[in-house]
Amino acid sequence: MDNSRFSISKEELEKQREYTALARMLVEARFEGKTPKAFVHTYGCQGNVSDGERLQGMLQQMGYDFTDDVKKADLVLYNTCAIREHAEDRIYGNVGALKQYKKSNPNLIIALCGCMMQQERVAEKIRRSYPFVDLLFGTHVSYKLPEFIYKCLSTGKRVFDITESDGNIVEGLPIKRDGRFKAWVPVMYGCNNFCSYCIVPYVRGRERSRDFDCVMEEVKGLVADGYKEITLLGQNVNSYNKDLSEDKRFPALLKAISELEGDFIVRFMTSHPRDCTRELLDVMASSDKIAKHLHLPFQSGNDRVLKEMNRHYDREKYLSLISYAYEIMPELSITSDVIVGFPGESYEEFKDTLSLLEEVKFTSLFTFIFSPRPGTKAYDMEDPVAYEEKSRWFKELTSLQEKIAGQRTAKMKGRTYRVLVEGKSKTEGLLSGRTGGNVIIEFMGDESLIGTFASVKVTNPKTWVVYGEYIG
Ligand code: SAH
Ligand code: SF4
Ligand code: F3S
Repeated sequence: MDNSRFSISKEELEKQREYTALARMLVEARFEGKTPKAFVHTYGCQGNVSDGERLQGMLQQMGYDFTDDVKKADLVLYNTCAIREHAEDRIYGNVGALKQYKKSNPNLIIALCGCMMQQERVAEKIRRSYPFVDLLFGTHVSYKLPEFIYKCLSTGKRVFDITESDGNIVEGLPIKRDGRFKAWVPVMYGCNNFCSYCIVPYVRGRERSRDFDCVMEEVKGLVADGYKEITLLGQNVNSYNKDLSEDKRFPALLKAISELEGDFIVRFMTSHPRDCTRELLDVMASSDKIAKHLHLPFQSGNDRVLKEMNRHYDREKYLSLISYAYEIMPELSITSDVIVGFPGESYEEFKDTLSLLEEVKFTSLFTFIFSPRPGTKAYDMEDPVAYEEKSRWFKELTSLQEKIAGQRTAKMKGRTYRVLVEGKSKTEGLLSGRTGGNVIIEFMGDESLIGTFASVKVTNPKTWVVYGEYIG
C-alpha cells in the first residue's frame, strides 16, 4: 500500500504555519503581553496521549504556556476517548463543570477534540446542550488547530469540524512532550480490524503507517536528547507497513531501532495476536535493548466468542504464540486485555477465559466489562446476561489474576533487576521505577537517580508493587 496518499500536503502545512503566526498575534493582543495559560487534558490510550503532545506543541507555538490548574486556564482543551460508555459519561460530566469557569473568565476558550468528538451524535449533543463550548474538532483534522484557534479568536463564533477523511499522516508538527526520559512514538494510525465491539475504527479511520525513515529519525533524535525509554505505538503495530517488503515491516523496524547506539530501551504496543509472528518474537529475544514485555490482548479464551468478536485467531493460535514466546524468552512478562460479558457469552464460555489465565500466567491484565458502543456490530447483538451477573464474573476474573500476579512477583524475591527510575513514590522517601517486564518497583535512593537506569534487588514483593534495595 502506498501510504503517501495519506500525507497532508506541504501547502496545507504551510497554511497552518501562517495561521499559527496569525493566532499568535491575536493571542498577544487579547492578553496584552501576558502569556495565556492552556490546560490540556488527554483521556484514553497512549496514542491519544501522543496526539495531545502535538496539540500542546501547536498551542505553544501560538504563544500559550501551560497550567495544571484548570481554574487558572485561558484555554481548556479536553482530548477525549470513546472506548467505553463510562469514559464518555465522565467527559460529559467534566465538560459540564467548565461552565462556571467561563463566568469568572469570559476570555476562556473551551475546546473539545479526540475520539469521542469524532462521533456525529456526540458533536450534535455538545452543539445543542453545551453552548459554552467554543471549539470542537475530530481526529482527522486535529493538525488544523491553529486555524481553529484563529477563527475562534477572530470571529468570536463557535467552530465545529468533524470532517472525515481516509485518514491522514502529518509529519513535522511541533511537539511538547510530557516526559523528559520516556517518549511515545506512533508508528501507525487507525485500525482496519473492526472487532465487533470496538469504536476505534470508526473514530480513527483506516490503518496507515508512518514512513520507516521518519520513525527512525524521530527515535534517533530522542536517543540523542537523552530519552531512556521509547514506546512505539499503534492499535495493531504488527500490521505496520504490512503491504511493503519485509525490510520495512514491524520486526525490521524494531530491529533497526534496537541496533541504534545509546543507553535506552524500546517497548511497543499494541500487538494483535492475529498478526503477531514468531519473527517478531525472535527480534524481541535478540536484543537487550528491547524490553521483555509483550502486551498481547486476547479478549476471550473461548473460540465461539472470539469469532463473534471478529478477532481472527483462536485460543490455540494464541497459546501457541505464547508458548513459543516463553520458550525463547523464559523471563518474558506478558500482559493482556480481556472483555467480560460480551453479548451472548455464557458462564461456561467465560470459564475458558479463566482457564486461559491459568495457562498463560499474565503479569497483569486490563479487564473490562463489555460496553455497548453505538455504531458497532455488537451494539445490536442480543445481550441477555444482566450487568450484576457480569460484575460477578468480573470479580472472579480479577481475583484469579490477583492470585497469579502475586505468585509471579513472589518469584522475583532475591533477584536483581535493571530498572528505569521514573520518579518519587507516593510513599515518602521511596523512588519508583519499572522493570523491563513492566513491574513497578520501589526502593530507597537518591532523587538524582530519577531518569536513569538502576540495579535494584527485590527484597519484599507484593502483588502489584515489589519493594527492593538499590544495588548500583
Ligand atoms: N488495538 C488494541 C486495543 C485497543 S482498545 C487491540 O486490538 O488489542 C483497548 C481495549 O479496550 C481492548 O483491547 C478491549 O479489551 C477494550 N475494549 C474495546 N472496546 C470495548 C468495549 N466496547 N467494551 C469493553 N471493552 C472494550
Ligand atoms: Fe479495536 Fe480491534 Fe482495532 Fe483493537 S484491533 S483497535 S480492539 S478494532
Ligand atoms: Fe480511546 Fe480513541 Fe484511544 S477511543 S482508547 S482514545 S484510540
